[in-house]
Amino acid sequence: MNLPVLVLNDGHEIPQLGIGTWPLSSTELPAVLETAFEAGYRHVDTAAAYGNEVGVGEGVRATGLRRDELFVTTKIGNDDHGFGEARRALDESLERLGLDYVDLALIHWPMPAKNQFERTWDALVTLREEGKARSIGVSNFRPEHLDRIIRTSGVTPAVNQIEVNPVVSHRELRAATTRRGIVVESWSPLGPGTGLLQDSRLQGVAEKHNKTVGQVVIRWHIQNNLVVIPKSATPQRIRENIDVFDFQLDDDDLLILEAFDQGHPATYSAHLAGG
Ligand SMILES: NC(=O)c1ccc[n+]([C@@H]2O[C@H](COP(=O)([O-])OP(=O)(O)OC[C@H]3O[C@@H](n4cnc5c(N)ncnc54)[C@H](OP(=O)(O)O)[C@@H]3O)[C@@H](O)[C@H]2O)c1
Repeated sequence: MNLPVLVLNDGHEIPQLGIGTWPLSSTELPAVLETAFEAGYRHVDTAAAYGNEVGVGEGVRATGLRRDELFVTTKIGNDDHGFGEARRALDESLERLGLDYVDLALIHWPMPAKNQFERTWDALVTLREEGKARSIGVSNFRPEHLDRIIRTSGVTPAVNQIEVNPVVSHRELRAATTRRGIVVESWSPLGPGTGLLQDSRLQGVAEKHNKTVGQVVIRWHIQNNLVVIPKSATPQRIRENIDVFDFQLDDDDLLILEAFDQGHPATYSAHLAGG
């Protein structure tokens, strides 16, 4: 299967669908990734904070796939802000992953109270120059954070990974991000804990297309030009979540999905305010 890709502002391509790995352990991950790669996934999302980079690396190295057929993302953790700290943190991530480079390195959270994210970003710029990260980006950044790093470094992030699902659609933040030439990547794409997957209106849409509600929600991300990284440790769901390229949501379906939007989640705002 050829996964659709989006072209980043640095010219590299990112597969539009990948597998999330939080909160899976290094022990669980090799089997999960084996199932995922067999099903056609080529893109894996991890982070230093997940404590599972060793397992991600094992799973990646166990495939017969060439390194350049795979797309691996990791993130600089909240305790590693600062120029030297971030450089060391990515080296340690590469060591745990057993890889020479990651395809995408992100700043996990802006941590505005620390006020170090510009220096952290400068570190990612140098790491990209050194080839340790093909592309660099951020996560959970608001427009003012994006503008500060773009202004001080002259380098626009390739990606902003933020919470996006039909319930927390972050319409304005998405628009502000894409306006700056940055691809939006959706975390918690299935809206875990929101009841979205149990909703009877979405069950109707799923039945109409002979798909599951999970597939309908993932398709919504794809049709909105988002990168989407659903996590599952269940083999059947891992396969189900990538089987979304043989149907199309129509305008009626999209209207039903848009009606779930409740704006910003409390946790997201609290994280940002608290730094
Ligand atoms: N940058 C950030 O700050 C940030 C924050 C949170 C997450 N993330 C990343 O984003 C990834 C995805 O987010 P997430 O894990 O929070 O949420 P998610 O992928 O939207 O949802 C995961 C949950 O949905 C279940 N699930 C998966 N596929 C399903 C299906 N087809 N039908 C029904 N249930 C299904 C999974 O259960 P089973 O595993 O039991 O199948 C799991 O409980 C994470 O794994 C992580 O890599 C990043």
